[in-house]
Amino acid sequence: MLRRLHPEQPASFAFTPANRAWAEAQMTKYPQGRQASAIIPLLWRAQEQEGWLTRPAIEHVAEMLGMAYIRALEVATFYFMFQLSPVGSVAHVQVCGTTTCMICGAEDLVAVCRELIAPKAHTLSADGRFSWEEVECMGACANAPMVQIGKDYYEDLTAARLREILAEFAAGRVPAPGPQNGRFASEPRSGLTALTDHAGARLPANYSVQAAADLGDTIRRIDGTEVALVTPWLGPVKKPRAPRKPKAEA
Ligand code: FES
Repeated sequence: MLRRLHPEQPASFAFTPANRAWAEAQMTKYPQGRQASAIIPLLWRAQEQEGWLTRPAIEHVAEMLGMAYIRALEVATFYFMFQLSPVGSVAHVQVCGTTTCMICGAEDLVAVCRELIAPKAHTLSADGRFSWEEVECMGACANAPMVQIGKDYYEDLTAARLREILAEFAAGRVPAPGPQNGRFASEPRSGLTALTDHAGARLPANYSVQAAADLGDTIRRIDGTEVALVTPWLGPVKKPRAPRKPKAEA
């Protein structure tokens, strides 16, 4: 899949003071001279700040890490977790289009995205709230077909269920991720056939689904409220000062 930078780019990029402090702390995790190893988390933070990964952001990260721009661009264009075009302000839907999902109905899911979001992938919906793309196998083949929305997987989908899910997001709700056909995880549809000893004691949802419910971060971007970055070798992390308000004139 050819991944190119978007033709329209902003003029510049800078991390917010909090994100800059976070990025600089990340860089200290690696031995002197190996700061390029921090490229994935820094690109990810830049994307979380802006919503998508712009060319100025890639260049900014490359400069911070002392890398040639082309090397940073290689990373950004290789991993499809990096969005090189603007994405919907509410949700970006990644539809798995690899073999198992394709056999189990991925084309129907793509058709729903074409109809409800935009005819072409990597295009914003008319209201700018949604976007979609087709991606390669996301490792949930036993629950095909599936999509990733934000940080979570919606599995065992049908076209009708995906329609409902998109409608829920559009209405400001976050539907529970995980299997959408009543399965707990990836056991047979008819129920467990092995390891049945503790089946009665299991929680209402599998760990991933429960974590999504507890954290409530399915479509929330990183905003500084997550588990803090731990860098004990740097001592306590100082919070950047908020800019002073100008004094009112007498
Ligand atoms: S083929 Fe879709 S998750 Fe593997």
